[in-house]
Amino acid sequence: MFGKRSGPGAETAQRERAPAPPPPPAAKAGGVKPPPRAADLPPPPVHVDSRSSQYYEVKTTIFNALIDTIDLAQLAQLDAASAREEIRDIVNEIIAIKNVAMSIAEQEQLLQDICNDVLGYGPLEPLLARDDIADIMVNGADRVFIEVSGKVQLTNVRFRDNAQLMNICQRIVSQVGRRVDESSPICDARLPDGSRVNVIAPPLAIDGPTLTIRKFKKDKLKMSDLQRFGSISPEGAAVLGIIGNVRCNVLISGGTGSGKTTLLNCMTGFIDSDERVITCEDAAELQLQQPHVVRLETRPPNLEGTGEITMRDLVKNCLRMRPERIIVGEVRGPEAFDLLQAMNTGHDGSMGTLHANTPREALQRIESMITMGGYNLPSKTIREMVVGAIDVIVQAARLRDGSRRITHITEVIGLEGDVVITQDLFLYEIQGEDESGRVRGRHVSTGISRPAFWERARYYNREQELLEAIEAASRKS
Ligand SMILES: Nc1ncnc2c1ncn2[C@@H]1O[C@H](COP(=O)(O)OP(=O)(O)OP(=O)(O)O)[C@@H](O)[C@H]1O
Ligand SMILES: [Mg+2]
Repeated sequence: MFGKRSGPGAETAQRERAPAPPPPPAAKAGGVKPPPRAADLPPPPVHVDSRSSQYYEVKTTIFNALIDTIDLAQLAQLDAASAREEIRDIVNEIIAIKNVAMSIAEQEQLLQDICNDVLGYGPLEPLLARDDIADIMVNGADRVFIEVSGKVQLTNVRFRDNAQLMNICQRIVSQVGRRVDESSPICDARLPDGSRVNVIAPPLAIDGPTLTIRKFKKDKLKMSDLQRFGSISPEGAAVLGIIGNVRCNVLISGGTGSGKTTLLNCMTGFIDSDERVITCEDAAELQLQQPHVVRLETRPPNLEGTGEITMRDLVKNCLRMRPERIIVGEVRGPEAFDLLQAMNTGHDGSMGTLHANTPREALQRIESMITMGGYNLPSKTIREMVVGAIDVIVQAARLRDGSRRITHITEVIGLEGDVVITQDLFLYEIQGEDESGRVRGRHVSTGISRPAFWERARYYNREQELLEAIEAASRKS
């Protein structure tokens, strides 16, 4: 109906103006390695845990005595509060018998830690309690990393040994009815608060059980937050709002942890409240505010290896649910075909994310997902399908200083021969670095005054706003 799907002028010239990639680091001449400078040395671990090593010695003694005394099977029958009480009584007794000198505060701390070990997630608890941490990455018992404000830091949090870590992994995955051990060493799970968890255990993980947690943020970032952080300019945000509202089909592309899901969530904020939206995700992360939303989640195979429901199953089923928009958390396989078909058959305003480093790479990825899905289609046909389906690609990136930026708002406007023609509307231009190592840059308009989705914006009565946002951006550029 709109833009390239009807517009005669769609197959115009290639207008992509990707910013030049940063130059590669200069190759070192000669074979002599210079001595490491202070800046090259790994930073010391951040002190998340302030307890001393003596404290840990005492804790181990008391913990071992507790395990000898307590009936774990019976403890498992109790609810959390009663189990805590039971542990409290026994720990207090052990402290008295062993004559350990401790202040009341230390004793309380010890009790808390032991309860966390026996009933909860052990040394992970203080990290899980913090809202500023985006990811927790545990590479074996004594290397725990966190990501805070886009920066990955080694912490001084330690597990007693790999057995304790494995126990905690087991506790996490058993809550979603799964098991992780040598025979099934890979497992995805979710914490009760919605955080996404992956465990890979030895022998596949060579240096011990490896646990990765993407913390669930209760207060999801909004477009105004992204604007405040400088991830997008006010004009770019206005254009994204219009794109989300006027039912363009959107792909959000980006690397791992670049902010794709966050951006998708923001974009869904512009959907009108009377639209029926169906979301399909591997682990429900999106938080749509509209009243008419159906949330679907894939299911991994059970312990016998059956019962799996894939993303493709969900997307296909969606089509029988009278959706107006389909939102796919992450497109990574053959469901790409079904999503594109949905986009091409009247479910305008559908959206999805995918892993790619540039909008052009996103197009290649989607094409190869379809090819690898076993559809025997000539590549020109696939490209026609891609071009017909996708209106806009929004590229997210995590820059080297840890900040997250929207680097491209790019339209897919047509096919010229075999080449998909794209047109950048907004780009993020890197200008350098300030004294503290933060990347300096700005969002610029590429000077396109009439995006291909103009007619669509006009249909929804948003063309004046679109024009104002583009003009305002052009004046600044
Ligand atoms: N623009 C932003 N500014 C600051 N923090 C952000 C921004 N976008 C996302 N984040 C934070 O970064 C973390 C990762 O974001 P998100 O889950 O959206 O990334 P993703 O690209 O979907 O990751 P994955 O590839 O693992 O699915 C979250 O904690 C989120 O709150
Ligand atoms: Mg994501």
